[in-house]
Amino acid sequence: MLKFSCTLFFFILLSRSALISSRHVYYQKQPCKELVLYLHDVIFNGTNIANATSARVTNPTKLGDYFFGMMVVFDDPMTRDTNLLSPPVARAQGLYFYDMKSTTNAWFAYSLVFNSSEYKGTLNIMGADMMDEPRRDLSVVGGTGDFFMARGIATFETIAAQGKYFCVKMDLKLYECP
Ligand SMILES: *[C@@H]1O[C@H](CO)[C@@H](O)[C@H](O)[C@H]1NC(C)=O
Ligand SMILES: *[C@@H]1O[C@H](CO)[C@@H](O)[C@H](O)[C@H]1NC(C)=O
Ligand SMILES: *[C@@H]1O[C@H](CO)[C@@H](O)[C@H](O)[C@H]1NC(C)=O
Repeated sequence: MLKFSCTLFFFILLSRSALISSRHVYYQKQPCKELVLYLHDVIFNGTNIANATSARVTNPTKLGDYFFGMMVVFDDPMTRDTNLLSPPVARAQGLYFYDMKSTTNAWFAYSLVFNSSEYKGTLNIMGADMMDEPRRDLSVVGGTGDFFMARGIATFETIAAQGKYFCVKMDLKLYECP
């Protein structure tokens, strides 16, 4: 009996480790591509038409004190460094809305649109932006063109936030590449 249960235990151990390792085989540990880009967002305030890159399209509701329900649509330049005036290498086009009543938390869904000699195509990104955290991971759910069927993680880090302007560093790591 003791021998039997030992053997059973061994088999359980074996099948567990087989499961764990097969789960790990599926994902590459090292990214096959990494891109670091900076998003610059200037919110439309009613007069800055020449410079604004995003606009609020809904008013916040009165549920909590954290803009619950407010949605912003953006078409933001993405640069290789933190300077707003550097030449853009892509545009980030999409939306975010605030979705927590107890803290500032937004949900993003957007495309990075590349149209340069280096890259043509899109990367599509979505997920929760938990702004209280210094670094937030969103999913790269797919891509087109030079990023055909790409998947990975986009890590957000807020570099600057002053009034109607903010800059977010996006560290894009792809684990599935064309
Ligand atoms: C909007 O922003 C511009 C540029 O920052 C500023 O000059 C202007 O006074 C602002 N307008 C309002 C209504 O806040
Ligand atoms: C608008 O952007 C330009 C640079 O593109 C900058 O020189 C100017 O100060 C900005 N104007 C406002 C009102 O922010
Ligand atoms: C992409 O760039 C090319 C060449 O500069 C331009 O002709 C084309 O209109 C651009 N397409 C988009 C969608 O911006």
